[in-house]
Amino acid sequence: MTDRIRDFLRVRRDLGRDEGPVMVLDLDVVRDNYTAFARSLPDTRVFYAVKANPAPEVLRLLAEMGSCFDTASVAEIEMVLAAGATPERISFGNTIKKERCIGRALAHGIRLFAVDCEAEVEKIARAATAAGLEVGAVQVFCRILCDGAGADWPLSRKFGCVPEMATDVLEHAHRQGLSAYGVSFHVGSQQGNTEAWDGALASAATIFRECAERGIFLSMVNLGGGFPTQYLKAVPGVESYGDAIFRALTKHFGNRIPETIIEPGRGMVGNAGMIEAEVVLVSKKSADEDEVRWVYLDIGKFGGLAETMDEAIRYPIRTRHDGERTEPCVIAGPTCDSVDVLYERQHYPLPVSLSIGDKVLIEGTGAYTTTYAAVAFNGFPPLQQIVI
Ligand SMILES: Cc1ncc(COP(=O)(O)O)c(C=O)c1O
Repeated sequence: MTDRIRDFLRVRRDLGRDEGPVMVLDLDVVRDNYTAFARSLPDTRVFYAVKANPAPEVLRLLAEMGSCFDTASVAEIEMVLAAGATPERISFGNTIKKERCIGRALAHGIRLFAVDCEAEVEKIARAATAAGLEVGAVQVFCRILCDGAGADWPLSRKFGCVPEMATDVLEHAHRQGLSAYGVSFHVGSQQGNTEAWDGALASAATIFRECAERGIFLSMVNLGGGFPTQYLKAVPGVESYGDAIFRALTKHFGNRIPETIIEPGRGMVGNAGMIEAEVVLVSKKSADEDEVRWVYLDIGKFGGLAETMDEAIRYPIRTRHDGERTEPCVIAGPTCDSVDVLYERQHYPLPVSLSIGDKVLIEGTGAYTTTYAAVAFNGFPPLQQIVI
């Protein structure tokens, strides 16, 4: 936790304004993270993955620092434009887009699009033609599948085509008059293995060669996200990722290293945010001495902690009793839905003295929390965010 967050929460509590869970995000941490990415991958353009946290303050800061943006929807494109970024700094990175949304993105000046099949290529070509644009000014990159091994939140099969298909997809784009620009992949979010980019870069280099044999000269590799934030397990620093990626690029592309892009989301904002929540109930399911305690918080899966699904992400949880004796607990959220349990398969150690009304601090919650919160499930309001 940063001193700024600690001070902010103390003042909020002193003023009696600490009702309901809140995520507090420290922009200084985002600034440091952006600088670390820019330093560790100096020849790579940073496209912040807006989905991780689209707070206007975050977007404005990153726009001022020179970041580009990976967006998933027209709404995200509009948020980024409102934050001051120009359209050539924005990609429409979702491989699943309505044709009319592509049209709206083109009208906003966006010219960089992700695809993973011929049908999506055709939508973009049609939308560009309908808009009266020069189709060749629209760039597409083809996303390839990655197995996500080594990642705590793998993105697996939904996005991308097998590498063997990408050359055909890019050739199709070329034949439609679009600019076949490059290849993208995502090695899985919260990727703990710095070498995870190697296999995907080998595939990307093969696609570059195959396209060249067909007279199509690609120029860009989009290295995606995957850069981890600090939860309970220690993770390598961003410099180690930069070094490993540079080694893999040199190994597979030799002296012809392509233009590169990264799309960090979690690694940009995860450690900048912290949720303060409250213990609503501590109970046991039987009178048995050895029965595990259930700790119910006023935040759960529907309040923003969706990434505890399958217990994939284990957040560090701090309490004012830290250092005292702990016992393994089940942690659950406040709603009347039985899936609203955060950690049950692998019990979570919490202080025995933790009791009803105590505050808990959930660290590393700057990414993938506020926008995952339900609007009003069971009448609970969505997670509040305060950016400092
Ligand atoms: C296309 C794309 N780029 C980047 C990201 C961000 O990934 P991460 O948060 O692991 O950095 C995602 C996450 O889903 C994504 O889908």
